Amino acid sequence: MTAKALNIGLVGYGFMGRTHSNAYRRVGNFFDLPYLPVLKAVCGRDQAKTRAFATQWGYESVESDWKKLIARKDIDAVDICTPNDSHAEIAIAAAKAGKMVLCEKPLGRTAAEALRMVKAVEAAGVPNTVWYNYRRIPAVTLAKQLIDSGKLGRIFHYRANFLQDWTINADLPQGGAGLWRLDAKASGSGVTGDLLSHCIDTAMWLNGAITDVTAMTETFVKERTHVGTGKVEKVSIDDACTFIGRFANGALCNFESTRYARGHKAQYTFEINGENASLKWDLHDLHRLEMFDYRDESITRGWRSIHVSDADQPYMKNWWVPGLQIGYEHSFVHQVADFLTALGAGKPCAPTFRDALETDKVCDAVLKSAATGKWAKTGVEWAAPGPKAAARKGPRAHALG
Ligand SMILES: NC(=O)c1ccc[n+]([C@@H]2O[C@H](COP(=O)([O-])OP(=O)(O)OC[C@H]3O[C@@H](n4cnc5c(N)ncnc54)[C@H](O)[C@@H]3O)[C@@H](O)[C@H]2O)c1
Repeated sequence: MTAKALNIGLVGYGFMGRTHSNAYRRVGNFFDLPYLPVLKAVCGRDQAKTRAFATQWGYESVESDWKKLIARKDIDAVDICTPNDSHAEIAIAAAKAGKMVLCEKPLGRTAAEALRMVKAVEAAGVPNTVWYNYRRIPAVTLAKQLIDSGKLGRIFHYRANFLQDWTINADLPQGGAGLWRLDAKASGSGVTGDLLSHCIDTAMWLNGAITDVTAMTETFVKERTHVGTGKVEKVSIDDACTFIGRFANGALCNFESTRYARGHKAQYTFEINGENASLKWDLHDLHRLEMFDYRDESITRGWRSIHVSDADQPYMKNWWVPGLQIGYEHSFVHQVADFLTALGAGKPCAPTFRDALETDKVCDAVLKSAATGKWAKTGVEWAAPGPKAAARKGPRAHALG
C-alpha cells in the first residue's frame, strides 16, 4: 500500500524519547501501514542536547518551546515524553491546535487532571493514545487472546508485582532530570502512578474493571535534598505500595510495587488463575507465557512454557523467522504500528485517553485508601471482559495485534 506521511513532533528526549524515536524509525521496515511517521521535529529545553538528539535519531528540525512546536502547521501528531507534570498542559494545547496526541503514562497525575485531557481530545475529535506499551509484548497480547477465547474460564485471582531497587540510597536527591520521579509535584505519586499504573492497565485490559481497593503505602526515606531548591525537603511520594481489591467480574486482585526490593531492577510479573487454566508472565523472560491447563492429560499435566515467537502468535509474523524472539523496544514499535493502522481505519487506538483515565481512577482510589485506611471505590466504568469482550465497539474497543 502507498503510505501517507504523518509528521511527528516529539517533546522530551529522555528515556521514552529514545524508545519512541526508535519505534518511529523502525516501524515502516517491518509493518505495512497506511501512514508512515516522519521525524519532523524534536523539542527540548537544552538547545545543544536537543540538536545532538535530532542528529542521532534523524529529526529534521528542533524546537526549544513546545508551544512553538504545537503552533507549527507541518506537525500532525504531538508525542509527549516529558515528566508527568507537563502531560496535561501540552496535551490540552495540542488537542486545541487540532493535533493528534500520543501521551506517555500515567495520563494525568490525578484522575481529575486526566479527565481534563480526555475532554480536550474528545472535544477536538483528535486521535489519541497512551503508551501503556506492555500490552503489546506478544506474550501479553497472547494472554489477552487466551482469556477472551474463554480458555481460562471464570477468573478467580489476578496478582501482579512491579519491583525495583534504585532508590534505597538515602543520599539520592529528589527533583530535576532523572529524579523527578521522587518529587511528588512532578510525578503526582511514587510507585503507584509510575509502576502500578502499568500493572493496573494490563489487569483491566485482561480482566475488566477493578471496582474496590484497599491499600497501604510507605515512604521509607522521609526527607531528601531537592535538586531545584538545594534544601532538604519532605518526600511526598509513595516508595512502596501494596493493595488488594475486587474486579467487577468477581475476581480478587493482589498488587505490589516498590523501589526497595534489593536485587530487582525492573521486574514486572503477573499471574492469573482461572477455573480451567492459569497464566503467568515475567518481564525478565518477556517472550514466554507460562500456562497450566487442568484439562490436559493428567500424567503430563503441568506448567508449559510457550515461546511466543511463531507467525500465528501476536505481532510475530512481522519480525524474523519462527523461534526467534524480540524484546522490550518492540512493544513501542507495535504501539506505533497499531496507532497508524487504527488511524488508517478511522478507529481509536487503545488505550485511548479515556481508557487511561480509568487507570488513573484506580491509582487515585489506591492512594486515597492508603491515606484513610479504608476501602475505596474506584468508579471505573469499564464493563467486565471475557469471551465477548472482543466484540465491544466504540471508543473503548481494544485493538489487538
Ligand atoms: N511506557 C513506559 O514504560 C514508560 C517508561 C518510562 C517512563 N515513562 C513515562 O514517560 C515520561 C517521561 O519519562 P522518561 O523516563 O523518559 O523521563 P526522562 O527524565 O528520561 O526524560 C524526560 C524528558 O523531558 C524533558 N522535559 C521536561 N520538561 C520539558 C518541557 N517543559 N519541554 C520540553 N522537554 C521537557 C527533559 O529534558 C527530558 O528530556 C513520564 O511520563 C514517564 O512516566 C513511561
